Amino acid sequence: MVVLGVESSCDETAFSIVKDGVHVLSSVVASQVDVHAVFGGVVPEVAAREHLKVIAPLFQQAIQEAGIQLSDIDLISVTRGPGLIGALLVGVSFAKGLATSLNKPLIPVDHVHAHVHGALLGIENANMEEIFPALSLVVSGGHTNLYYMENATDFQLLATTIDDACGECFDKVGKLLGFGYPAGPIIEKTAQGGNDKAYEMPKMVQDKSRLQFSYSGLKTHMVYRLQKQKDYSEQELKDLCASFQSEALGLIQRKIKIALKKRTNVRSVIIAGGVAANQKFRSMLSELPVKTYFPKLKYCSDNAAMIAALGWHEYPKRKENEDFLNDHNWDAYSRYDFQKYFVQV
Ligand code: KG4
Ligand code: ZN
Repeated sequence: MVVLGVESSCDETAFSIVKDGVHVLSSVVASQVDVHAVFGGVVPEVAAREHLKVIAPLFQQAIQEAGIQLSDIDLISVTRGPGLIGALLVGVSFAKGLATSLNKPLIPVDHVHAHVHGALLGIENANMEEIFPALSLVVSGGHTNLYYMENATDFQLLATTIDDACGECFDKVGKLLGFGYPAGPIIEKTAQGGNDKAYEMPKMVQDKSRLQFSYSGLKTHMVYRLQKQKDYSEQELKDLCASFQSEALGLIQRKIKIALKKRTNVRSVIIAGGVAANQKFRSMLSELPVKTYFPKLKYCSDNAAMIAALGWHEYPKRKENEDFLNDHNWDAYSRYDFQKYFVQV
């Protein structure tokens, strides 16, 4: 089955053609990073207008690179939320128009959930029975969400952050250190060759029974440390970044271990989102007692291949409800609606 994925939730417009949920025939992304850089953050209306400019030619590019005809598309999958509403409306309207004109089914999917499927793209002979039930973690600039997944489309939120997201903490601490944005990769690079025990860091959410993340304490600790000592030698800076990184990622490692003890039927742990690019994180989690899946670097950040993949998994379930497939009477949603998925273990 050939699926077209459409993504426009934030500052990246993306299309992808994915065959049978894991084989990526094309994946094109138009980033607006430079447009927003002058403002110091994403400006929602500017983002929507940039999507509008590039959406049609980018779609043509995805079709061409995949070497398919429009008539080869069996299904369209689009990000419905969470995201910037104006930005989402561009992709959703395009997808609804295309689905109507091609007379193909359209599946709206959740962007954060789709990140998880980014980690499973390109796996040869992917057998979902061997991967699920799974724990999955979306760890990015906006999210630190740990899910229990009975199967590829069932997302039960076990834990989330009560304040900053993990990637956000990397970015804020990086800013304090005078690093550029996004600071996560710069902190990782600086930490290489550093001693991660050189500086004591506060251990966050120590209560073992609590499945929860929190990053504001670590950030505040770094604020005070940098006020106390302003200048660092090259080695000291490496040590400081390594110590910070070790706790920022160690918290996640500890909580995954706790969740694995509570959910003993879990067959794998799937890590996704921007922070999944961190190599230190990958090596820390390779010690877990179950198989771990990480995305290829190009699928850590926003893309439409992951949207197509989740749409493909959702299709059999949605197909049973013919009304839903033919009914385009649904809206996009912002990031504030996610609480409805919360399930406490
Ligand atoms: O998923 P993503 O591309 O986008 C959004 O969250 O919107 O994630 C970006 C986040 C940023 O906070 C960035 O600093 C972080 O992921 N990040 C990293 C690394 N690469 C990206 N954090 C730690 N280590 C990295 N290597
Ligand atoms: Zn994302």
